[in-house]
Amino acid sequence: MENLIYFDNAATTWPKPESVYQFMIDFYRQTGVNPGRSGFDKAIEAGNLVEGLRKRLVRFFGGDEDAPERLCFGYNATDAMNTVLQGLLEAGDHVVTTNLEHNAVIRPINHLVRDEGVQATFVPFNAQGFVEPKTILDAIKDNTKVVVVNHGSNVIGTVQPVAEIGRICRERSIIFVIDASQTAGVIPINMTEMNIDVLVFTGHKGLMGSTGIGGLCVRKDVNIKTTRSGGTGVNSKDPYQPEEYPWKLEIGTPNIVGIASLWAGQDWIENKGMSAIHQHEMKLLEKMVARFNSIKGVTTYCTDSLENHTATLLVNVDGFEASNVGIKLEIDHDIAVRTGLHCAPLAHNQLGTMEIYGGVRFSIGAFNTEAHVDKAIEAIADIAGDQQLKKTS
Ligand code: ALA
Repeated sequence: MENLIYFDNAATTWPKPESVYQFMIDFYRQTGVNPGRSGFDKAIEAGNLVEGLRKRLVRFFGGDEDAPERLCFGYNATDAMNTVLQGLLEAGDHVVTTNLEHNAVIRPINHLVRDEGVQATFVPFNAQGFVEPKTILDAIKDNTKVVVVNHGSNVIGTVQPVAEIGRICRERSIIFVIDASQTAGVIPINMTEMNIDVLVFTGHKGLMGSTGIGGLCVRKDVNIKTTRSGGTGVNSKDPYQPEEYPWKLEIGTPNIVGIASLWAGQDWIENKGMSAIHQHEMKLLEKMVARFNSIKGVTTYCTDSLENHTATLLVNVDGFEASNVGIKLEIDHDIAVRTGLHCAPLAHNQLGTMEIYGGVRFSIGAFNTEAHVDKAIEAIADIAGDQQLKKTS
């Protein structure tokens, strides 16, 4: 286990930077009290971290810096996406989304369609794995209220042209929502410049925080209805949820240790530089793709161009079910990947990989090295039975 080579960073980045672990422990030990409720010094200090992180993340995402309260925390991207979709869409509304979505989007939309009378259109991606803005434009109808796009695919790693899609939405007063689960902390995002109205994020991937923390950032001119209610620490006499952000969309005691992790994650990203992190990962991906493509019997998906990409790669090996490749990678080579459908069944449907039980996903992270990639190349060559290439890395 100690020698495990971890290529499952699209599921969660691991390990985290040492400074993140340390700050989580230190902050939780010294200041892990309930923020925003009580008036003693430690509670105020904990509250300051929460409010400070709101400001920091709004700036990081290019949101409305004068409205940091519109950065609302939740458990993860799925939780935040439910808040957004249920709070925006009502009977008779139409939503446009894509075949690249995760079940965090597909299922809430399907429930709204089945149970609430919402209409939905899922548009395909092109052969290279990109959603063309024109397909979004063509799917827009008179009653389209929301467009939701997965910024970076968790299956094939393609990054969508959100600025162009954002412009289309802005010109038609349609609310543009992005799922930044795979891109936040890796690819620059500017909500203002890209006309993104709502950004949904999770903390435990590129943002280098822990699991159990995520949220949404909402631009000032967007109104998301309250769909859940409970304790906020303010206006306790009010029998209903406060209308003000963040309480409008944020309920119960926040995950203070998760918030501490994101704070330290921001420090780490600032220090390393987001573009340096991304370049490191992409250099490794480029080698992996080139070598995998030269192994007989190995198929990589949507790798014609690695521009506008995260370091996530879908692979299959002829004659093997993906899950069996995953087992061999772990047992024979100490390599961890995710196999199957990756909670994104429409993407696999369109790729034609549904019938073969999905694919093998290698997702490279900041702590992977060239030696890890070389091992992966040897391992896949070994599984594919390609004796010639197996040792050429
Ligand atoms: N959405 C995460 C993944 O793709 C969990 O693996």
